[in-house]
Amino acid sequence: MALPDGFLQELKSRCDITDIVSGYVNLKRRGRNMVGLCPFHSEKTASFNIYPENGSFYCFGCGAGGDVITFVMKIENLDYIEAVKFLAQRAGLDMPENSYDDGMSKMRTRILEANREAARFFYKQLYSPEGNHGLEYFHRRALTDNTITRFGLGYAPRSRFALCDHLRKIGFTDNEIVTANLAFRSSDGRRIVDRFADRVMFPIIDLRGNVIAFGGRILTDQKPKYLNTSDTLAFKKSSNLFSLNNAKNTGSRQLILCEGYMDVIALNQAGFKDAVATLGTALTSEQALLMKRYADEVIICYDADEAGQKATTRAISILRSAGLGIRIITVPDGKDPDEFIRNKGDKGPAAFKNILDNSGNDVEYRLYKLKSQFDLSRPDTKAQYMTEALKVISTLDSSVEQDIYVSKLSAEIGIEKSAVQHDLKKLQKRRHGDNERREFSKISAELTGRNDKLNTEKAKNIRAAKAEELLIAYIVHNNDMAKVAAEALPPDKFVTKFNADLYEYIIERISEGTDPGTTLSRDFTADEVSKFYSIINSFNSQVATREAMNDYINTIITESEKLTKSDISQMDSADIQARLERMKKQKK
Ligand code: GTP
Ligand code: MN
Repeated sequence: MALPDGFLQELKSRCDITDIVSGYVNLKRRGRNMVGLCPFHSEKTASFNIYPENGSFYCFGCGAGGDVITFVMKIENLDYIEAVKFLAQRAGLDMPENSYDDGMSKMRTRILEANREAARFFYKQLYSPEGNHGLEYFHRRALTDNTITRFGLGYAPRSRFALCDHLRKIGFTDNEIVTANLAFRSSDGRRIVDRFADRVMFPIIDLRGNVIAFGGRILTDQKPKYLNTSDTLAFKKSSNLFSLNNAKNTGSRQLILCEGYMDVIALNQAGFKDAVATLGTALTSEQALLMKRYADEVIICYDADEAGQKATTRAISILRSAGLGIRIITVPDGKDPDEFIRNKGDKGPAAFKNILDNSGNDVEYRLYKLKSQFDLSRPDTKAQYMTEALKVISTLDSSVEQDIYVSKLSAEIGIEKSAVQHDLKKLQKRRHGDNERREFSKISAELTGRNDKLNTEKAKNIRAAKAEELLIAYIVHNNDMAKVAAEALPPDKFVTKFNADLYEYIIERISEGTDPGTTLSRDFTADEVSKFYSIINSFNSQVATREAMNDYINTIITESEKLTKSDISQMDSADIQARLERMKKQKK
């Protein structure tokens, strides 16, 4: 059963959207609304709006929109019920008992419980006789017991049934254990088998302290070296970072991005608590946006090998488009941060701190990498180098910074500064033109309805669809007109199905005396909710008049009477005749 309307109403009245959002986004007042930088896509100028009067948000840049519940779903990566629980807890409201039965949400809770139990089990094994070689392994890698406890590291026993047996004994079903990806079914399907065996274990903990997954490292040279939990209902690799739960609390607005679990742990032990790592995959833009919530600057500290350097180049562009400041460090002698920090003598923590403090920004790094690819003693390759270098320099926002690099470049290749500047200007002009063209095609797609993924009929009849959206917005802002509108134009007269459904829902809710916004996020998907708020917040429909409403209605009726080509091909001549007669009558 769904959550009751009354409860949602109470919840929404207690959870002010401006309050909640301002915990994540820096908001400024603009007229009646609040604006800020969108947390769901990267941007430099604010197009993320909060509308306190209808309790919604909408981003004109990426089209994300919704109510306070949708906001929490998106920003905290929760499903609907979990987001409601999250807000209810904050507001001191009890969840209505047995009023909902969300199988997915229950299973997710069970997965998290199984994971927590598994983490305890692995940790305990580490200090048992069987797990002793796991503990020795960690000690050999210079981890202290304190660090082991802090990260909750563990050991998965060699027997392939140890964890399954343990979890079953305390009440987990086979299905739950397999869904948590802690075990898989044997090929005959008769029993379940531990996923991790004879590995040292690294629990992955999310920002709320849930154990969401594991990484397990083999103790020998065998492959695969690391085995990670696959994505589950409670875990998405691409949107989590290892140790962000520790790193977010340092108060430094800076993060060190490493490749591996061991690098992060070694850095933590040495006092660098702002280290994080991806979970065995390349950096994603989701992870970059997540980092942006806790940092203004990311220091990339990948391995010195070729793979690490390639990954660095990729990470730069992802972090940069998330609007993060970037520095890059490469630890010397082809080592990874873990090995470097463990060293005594001229390496170790103090040396690492020194590298950190002297690390260059990403433009320096990219120019440095670029230079090694060109032979600067030949005029043709020198010119190529200049072109490529200018591409890098032109990505800088600050003209002062640009000028510094232009000077450097000109000195380096022995070409007059004014000539280098001239080429930079040319490049920027071209880029500007490209941006304008892109902007133009975006606007034209919007005007013709071609980019509307939810209302796919919109492009076929843009006039009708626009009038429908205006009518919907009008009614949402003027609930007292819903009845009049519904009588003049029942939903089945709408031309596009998507808008018809929305219209019907809104009219029904209003006639029951409920604000449609209260229950929308319960009854529609997140994308549909976004679309709804784009409709009601994009038009200035607060000021629309009753005459305007009549115009919308007439337009929709006229458009719905028009025949499409496929309609005509399916009609016989009598149908067509009757239709023409009707149209003639209407004209009179
Ligand atoms: P150590 O050898 O324990 O120091 O590992 P490392 O942290 O130096 O690992 P490496 O640089 O080889 O890999 C970095 C990260 O990639 C690891 O932390 C894992 O998350 C991931 N990774 C490494 N090997 C594998 C593998 O065989 N399979 C998968 N799925 N991920 C791996
Ligand atoms: Mn390593």
